[in-house]
Order: sequence, then structure tokens, then C-alpha cells
Amino acid sequence: MRIGMIGAGNIGSTLARHFVRVGHEVAVSNSRGPETLAALVGELGCGAQAVTAAEAARFGEIAVVSVPFGKYRTVPVDGLAGKVVIDTNNYYPSRDGRFAELDEDRTTSSEMLAAHLPGALIVKAFNAIRWEHLRDGALPPGSPGRIAIPISGDDEEAKRLVTGLVDEIGFDAVDLGSLAVGGRKYQPGERLYVADLPSEEMRRLADL
Ligand SMILES: NC(=O)c1ccc[n+]([C@@H]2O[C@H](COP(=O)([O-])OP(=O)(O)OC[C@H]3O[C@@H](n4cnc5c(N)ncnc54)[C@H](OP(=O)(O)O)[C@@H]3O)[C@@H](O)[C@H]2O)c1
Repeated sequence: MRIGMIGAGNIGSTLARHFVRVGHEVAVSNSRGPETLAALVGELGCGAQAVTAAEAARFGEIAVVSVPFGKYRTVPVDGLAGKVVIDTNNYYPSRDGRFAELDEDRTTSSEMLAAHLPGALIVKAFNAIRWEHLRDGALPPGSPGRIAIPISGDDEEAKRLVTGLVDEIGFDAVDLGSLAVGGRKYQPGERLYVADLPSEEMRRLADL
């Protein structure tokens, strides 16, 4: 698959490494421009290229948005309609500034990203694992203790695609439901957040 990476920091670059390792083609982008990603692309090798964020949005069948949540309105809109978009973002007021609708729990950060990207099929994933554990924790399917990645979204087909991708790179996906209900279960501060649980334990704690 061709995967456009919007954000190439701790999580974005770690996912890009995994995706290239299992044979996908990635286009990585950040806010400063492709020339600042030469070292990462050199390390990733022939499955990778550096592009602008607008080009990353248009690049593939699937895109990953992995930016500080407070910057979500700078994510390019063009090119993402109809596409599966993985949202790894978390809301941290100390970094992102205050968003009253989140502080008052009137919505979620993923639904706000969805509202910014009309027609995109948002799947919240990889937000609830520390980047070092994402880097080092991959295991083959069926391994005892394989870490589960909670996912949520409002499109079943999009979640099936992301479930396959999560498995390919070495983790179990556990579908917790819609962005509004499921997504709330593994935001910062929730018990499934950065808990590194195996899937059975995650299902039990999520009351599935
Ligand atoms: N770190 C973790 O362990 C962890 C775990 C789970 C989830 N998360 C969440 O995942 C998101 C990314 O975290 P991170 O730790 O990877 O952050 P990070 O290391 O600070 O990287 C953020 C990336 O976003 C890029 N960016 C910002 N605005 C952009 C735009 N408009 N277009 C393209 N790229 C843009 C930055 O580019 P420049 O450097 O050029 O500005 C940088 O590459 C955050 O919301 C975070 O809360 C983090």
C-alpha cells in the first residue's frame, strides 16, 4: 500500500519504519519541508520519499495524521476525502492550548479532526502506546503478551483495513467501537491509555 505520513516525529517516523519494513511505500512529511527529512528517508531506504504535507495527503490509499493535536487545523484537507486516515493524536492542554469543547467533554479530538477533514474515514489508532513501545514491542501473531492497539472509528471497512495494518506491523488491534464512544475509552487519563495490554485483557477492561 501507499501510505502518506502527515507528521514525522516520534510516532510518525516509528510507524513509517514499521510500514516500510513490511513492504509498504511511504511518503513522509512535516511542517518544515521535505529537505529536513533527508536523514529519515535515507534510513528508510527505497520504500520512502519526503514530500510536502499536501503531497502526503494526496499520496496514498491511506494517510496517517500524527501531529501535536493543537495543530490539527493545519492538516491539509485536499486529498483526504474518501480516504482512510489514521489519527494518532492526543489532546494535551499544556502543549496544545485549551479547547473548551474537549475540556467540557462535548466532543473528542478525533471527532474534531473528522470535522476538519470532510469525507475522510477517520480511525483513531496508535495514540495509546508510547512511541518507544511502538518501536520495540512488535511480535508475530499469536505471541504471548502481544500488545493490543485499541482502535475506533465510524466506518467498518476502514477499521478492517487498519486492523490488518496493525497486525502486519506486529500488534493486535482491538476495535472499541465508534469515535465518540470507543475513542473516549483510550484517551489520556483513561485506564486503557498507554497500558500495553494484551488483547484479551483489553477487551475485558473495555467491557467488550
Ligand atoms: N510521543 C508519544 O509517545 C506518543 C504516543 C502516542 C500518541 N502520540 C500523539 O501523536 C501525535 C504526534 O506525537 P509525536 O510524539 O510524534 O510528536 P512530535 O515528535 O512532536 O512530532 C510531531 C510531528 O508533526 C509535524 N507537524 C506539525 N504540524 C504539521 C503539519 N501541519 N503538517 C505536517 N506535519 C506537521 C512536526 O513537524 P515539524 O517538526 O517540522 O514541526 C513533527 O514531524 C501527538 O498528537 C501525540 O500526542 C504521541
